[in-house]
Amino acid sequence: MDKLRVLITRAQIAEKVAQIGERITADFAGESLVLIGVLKGATISLADLARQIKLDVTFDFIAVSSYGDAKQQSGEVKLMKDVDQSVEGRNIILVEDILDTGLTLTYLKSMLQAHQPKALKIAALLDKVSRRTEPIHGDYVGFEIPDEFVVGYGLDFAERYRNLPDICVLESGSETR
Ligand code: IMP
Ligand code: MG
Repeated sequence: MDKLRVLITRAQIAEKVAQIGERITADFAGESLVLIGVLKGATISLADLARQIKLDVTFDFIAVSSYGDAKQQSGEVKLMKDVDQSVEGRNIILVEDILDTGLTLTYLKSMLQAHQPKALKIAALLDKVSRRTEPIHGDYVGFEIPDEFVVGYGLDFAERYRNLPDICVLESGSETR
């Protein structure tokens, strides 16, 4: 049985997401915006964030290979699904659930940058700064968290727990690190 401890409550998340939405609305005033969610973890963040942005917004989604059933990152990122629409000349915000080592977003950022967007920013609700191996930072970060494995609000362990409304630390169970 996995043990869960609430780290960030749904109320704290909602408040933070509203603040980030306001910042994005101000930063891109008068412009249109494409939110690109990284499947599947970012779906819930994207849905909530999008509704806090008072601009002309469209959605797209991208998928990369991920942790699979373990908690350990393989160190290799593979594109499984590309964007549907061209990003050329568009304002892009790449929406991710968490910045960990930074491998995923470093890969996606350089891939999208090659298609010459007008602007390319990163929004990540969570940031595990101490785990970073790549020189990348989020432009819109919700919370810096310690090096603990978290689930909920889109984040999974072996595909489970994405539907938890709060962000919780997974304290025991099938540990791999
Ligand atoms: P990175 O490439 O190491 O930055 O990893 C990013 C991806 O790792 C995220 O999109 C998550 O899918 C996954 N990840 C990293 N830390 C956690 C965690 O604490 N819980 C669940 N997934 C995580
Ligand atoms: Mg993910």
